[in-house]
Amino acid sequence: MKLLSELFDANRRWAEESVEADPGFFARLKAIQTPQYFWIGCSDSRVPANQITGLAPGEVFVHRNVGNVVVHTDLNCLSVLQYAVDVLGIRHVMVVGHYDCGGIKAALAGKSLGLIDNWLRHIQDVAERHAGILDALPDADAVQRCLSELNVIEQVRNVARTTLVGDAWRRDQKLALHGWIYDLGDGNLRDLDVSMTGEAPPDEIVATALDGLRRRYGVD
Ligand code: CO
Repeated sequence: MKLLSELFDANRRWAEESVEADPGFFARLKAIQTPQYFWIGCSDSRVPANQITGLAPGEVFVHRNVGNVVVHTDLNCLSVLQYAVDVLGIRHVMVVGHYDCGGIKAALAGKSLGLIDNWLRHIQDVAERHAGILDALPDADAVQRCLSELNVIEQVRNVARTTLVGDAWRRDQKLALHGWIYDLGDGNLRDLDVSMTGEAPPDEIVATALDGLRRRYGVD
């Protein structure tokens, strides 16, 4: 008996239905990959990029890790970003966080979970940087929601600070960065107003986004 045969059965059905609905579907996909979007999201199984945005295969390039973190020494993430920007000519990069994120909650709890503690350290750095906001919030739920948003904003700043995004903007390549948050409770995406196109300085845009966040959470 084949292992996980139900998944192979489902795959065969999906492939057949795709061709029935659109006979040229796979032939087109095979010929060319020209996505306009690059999604940097959380590995969480409840946050699938294509389904949430209604995008078909071939339309969104994806990198996911625990907590949607962009670290300047992470060759995996940077290589995917470089390929997306330099080779595919992606127009939009979106960092997408979500509420009730296990990575965010673990970072806040500070409990030791093993190797991943080192990864979560990056989220704890964000929490420490914005302790003034987080400490003013009324309860743990507000804190995890707010830190999810702060983490997205800081990761967008990190993407903007990579040499390869800076180089793309310097050569006037059309490239916009965005920060979004996804709500598992209702399936809605929200823009965190931290979009960057290389015109205004990233730190200025981040400061404005943080002002908006403070207003939303009632923190002065
Ligand atoms: Co998550």
